[in-house]
Amino acid sequence: MNNKPSDIIKGVILAGGTASRLRPLTNVTNKHLLPVGRKPMIYYPIEKMTGAGIEDILIVTGVDHMGDVVGLLGSGKDFNCRFTYKVQDQAGGIAQALSLAEDFAHGVPVAVILGDNIFEDSMRPYLEKYLKQKNGSHILLKPVKDPQRFGVAEVKGDKVLSIVEKPKNPKSDMAVTGIYFYDGEVYDIIRTLKPSGRGELEITDVNNEYIRRKTMTWSSMTGWWSDAGTFESLAHVQKLVEDKPPK
Ligand code: G1P
Repeated sequence: MNNKPSDIIKGVILAGGTASRLRPLTNVTNKHLLPVGRKPMIYYPIEKMTGAGIEDILIVTGVDHMGDVVGLLGSGKDFNCRFTYKVQDQAGGIAQALSLAEDFAHGVPVAVILGDNIFEDSMRPYLEKYLKQKNGSHILLKPVKDPQRFGVAEVKGDKVLSIVEKPKNPKSDMAVTGIYFYDGEVYDIIRTLKPSGRGELEITDVNNEYIRRKTMTWSSMTGWWSDAGTFESLAHVQKLVEDKPPK
């Protein structure tokens, strides 16, 4: 790679939502500011991005706690990166939050991490794999014991055949993690979406459009991965971080 990754890809961390599943922990603060190990949760996705050479990072969060998020993270100089901040006025879903990245990215591909996704692997090999692909999308999957809680992918070779959001009868145990790579077409795709049953623009609908266009590929994460959006997963991730710190 001749160019630095920062010239050819930008980072987006989605840290909005109401985190109602974690009340009362989230009554007066944002989920992504809660402690995980010795750091606020949002440090983990930031460090994954900077560790992969991504230096321009957009943080999207809601109106209620933007002040605290900016107060904690600042300009990015402490993390050797540059932060841009955007407010998501309402909890309208992950895809809606991602649409706010359009002006920031200016057509450059984006690496997206959901702010409550914590994982062991370096992001660099996945990023390099995506950059070789030139366009389309790349998602990271991980086999889990409770696929009903996630988007679940059915795959064949390096292609993804379908993704179903929180299926009652999952076709596989491959959870769609909250780590995604998208090209500049993602914003046009988001503009075509209709809110789901839970009233949100779903990232799974974005991913299914890339599948329809036959431009989605996937990798399986090798190290541990967890979300931290419920009491059970938050407790689980505390233990993972302690036992085997992320790379
Ligand atoms: C979201 C996505 C889901 C994905 C999960 C990963 O779910 O909709 O497809 O598997 O993140 O953390 P949510 O946490 O919004 O329920």
